[in-house]
Amino acid sequence: MTKEIIISPSILSADFAKLGEEIQAIDEAGCDWIHVDVMDGHFVPNITIGPAVVKALRPHSDKIFDVHLMISPVDQYIDAFADAGADIISFHPEAGAHPHRTVQHIKSLGKKAGIVLNPATSLDCLEYLIDDIDLILVMSVNPGFGGQKFIHSQLDKIRAIRAMIDASGRDIRLEVDGGIDQSTAPLAIEAGADTLVAGTATFRGGPDHYAENIKGLRG
Ligand code: DX5
Ligand code: ZN
Repeated sequence: MTKEIIISPSILSADFAKLGEEIQAIDEAGCDWIHVDVMDGHFVPNITIGPAVVKALRPHSDKIFDVHLMISPVDQYIDAFADAGADIISFHPEAGAHPHRTVQHIKSLGKKAGIVLNPATSLDCLEYLIDDIDLILVMSVNPGFGGQKFIHSQLDKIRAIRAMIDASGRDIRLEVDGGIDQSTAPLAIEAGADTLVAGTATFRGGPDHYAENIKGLRG
């Protein structure tokens, strides 16, 4: 089953002094989703934005807010991000004691749920979650910062997860995050990804370049 590629620009590489305008600009430039990286300085060595900022950004675009939580413990913040306007809420299984319960919680709020695998995290944890999740996000860098180099060993993981998803018959997006640019995007797609996060490669050159940058990622 061939799906259309979804491009989800990470606003981590946007101009934080003008986030509302930046979101409008990538929306008009033709992005599909908007990827919001939430970091707590504890689960990952960087601090970014919280639910109040997501809420403030919500009126600036009708596109899907793809919220990537890099926070631990994660459970106590799910409601706040759902209320703020997240459409998809993804979390790392290491960020809570009961990932299945976290998925149930996200779904009970009417949101889509995603599981994020770090480069060193095995795909084994997906076995008993696959019937309930809407998205699997493979990190192709260690989480925490934009502008890192794509880790090629993750391509085998993407291939294995693509086979799992196809065998499940469920409608699950397979997203890749980290070091995606015009040269690595085709590798991720060839391995089976259908959704690409890109920060540096989207925002490079400023607003006049966003449309061409996004188009370049679609191949
Ligand atoms: C890293 C974040 C990514 C990051 C991607 O922890 O999850 O979304 O912003 O940035 P680039 O595309 O620059 O690698
Ligand atoms: Zn991310």
